Amino acid sequence: MTDPGAVRFDPTDSAFLYDPYPTYRMLRESSPLHWHAPWEALVVTRYRDVDRLLRDKRLGRVMDGVEKRPPNPAHEPFDRIQAGSLLEIEPPDHTRIKQVVHDVFTPKHVRALADRIETLARTQADALATAIAEAGQADVITTFAEPIPVTVIADLLGVPEADRHQLLPWSKAIIGMFEPERTPESEAAAVDAARDFSAYLRHLAEIKRREPGDDLISRMVYVQAEDGTRISEDEIVANGILFLNAGHEAVVNVLGNGMKALLTHEDQLALVRADRELVPTAVEEMMRFDTPLQFFERFVLEPFTFDADDGSTHTFEAGTKLALYYASANHDPAVFAEPTVFDVTRSPNPHLAFGLGLHYCIGAPLARLELGRSVNALLDRFPNLQLAQEDFTYVPKNVFRYLTELRVRA
Ligand code: HEM
Repeated sequence: MTDPGAVRFDPTDSAFLYDPYPTYRMLRESSPLHWHAPWEALVVTRYRDVDRLLRDKRLGRVMDGVEKRPPNPAHEPFDRIQAGSLLEIEPPDHTRIKQVVHDVFTPKHVRALADRIETLARTQADALATAIAEAGQADVITTFAEPIPVTVIADLLGVPEADRHQLLPWSKAIIGMFEPERTPESEAAAVDAARDFSAYLRHLAEIKRREPGDDLISRMVYVQAEDGTRISEDEIVANGILFLNAGHEAVVNVLGNGMKALLTHEDQLALVRADRELVPTAVEEMMRFDTPLQFFERFVLEPFTFDADDGSTHTFEAGTKLALYYASANHDPAVFAEPTVFDVTRSPNPHLAFGLGLHYCIGAPLARLELGRSVNALLDRFPNLQLAQEDFTYVPKNVFRYLTELRVRA
């Protein structure tokens, strides 16, 4: 074991942002529970530790009296959308709101969307083909990937087509606040987007109240009108924003990161082309190999002693912040044989890309359906899909990991 004091974890370093996996390996081996003073957080990188901590009810997303960031009245519009969001609350509120929305995301309900998703994926593959025919190459992310989950989640929530162009810029601005390395500018942009998005959703909820449709906003508005104790107007807005943002960000990012992996591993691409039954395991491997949401935070709600995977014992004080690195857990050799190898046949693949425990991704069945149909549509439409770039640029973020573009030719 190396001296943990000698371990260098600098999440602002450009080499780390380009490829964080060697650093995760070093942390797992030398300092698996690593105190990172600038974030005032314990960085947890081994699978078994992350897995056990995610299941532990003595950890949570919120803690009375513990502020995630210094209180700032200028952030009120942002804090308000956080306060009621499923992702940021614990039982009993979490249970109460999940009961209102749960049915919409069950595998059975989601399967009914398969034909619509299939058509969308094929339409976007045609759009990509047109763009490539015109310019010789095109960006898979903007031309193909983005419109698919944005359309699906906007349909599900009941956002009219004319308003959808606002969703991506609002979402991109809002996720900036989740980054530990945010700036005053990115904070201000997140607050502005939260204010505008909230005003828009209040207006949309008002329309749905008068003219309900078969969509999730209408359902939440209906439940509120029947029994205001089950969900409040602020909670409708907060969760509407959460679903609209979470419903597309990570799906697009998996398509970008994952198609890069597939196109740079020609043997794996050939395997999937030869046997489309491999698409589901290939999709899981895309999420494991280059995980779109690298870590999430938890707070210690009550003090306890934790026996870590490396044999060390830690006393967690109430209020301690943990950064649980799903991306590092997904590369832990204790669980994944040859973790740096991209293997589309990998099975089992118990990756943590969707999290675990109470906050496990409610959209996982929907995401899997969208990803499978999208990969198949690309392989069908382009028998010779190839990368048209050698250098890749990742957006300099720590929580969200995604490429600025992924240019292809056919
Ligand atoms: C491949 C795509 C996706 C990935 C990798 C992903 C990842 C995640 C992760 C890691 C969490 C847990 C966060 C935590 O531990 O604190 C989460 C929660 C969540 N996700 Fe996803 N997600 C994806 C797609 C979706 C989609 C399509 C939706 C659609 C609505 C969605 C909605 C949500 C919601 C609402 C939560 C909060 C659940 C709760 O707190 O109970 N996600 N997601």
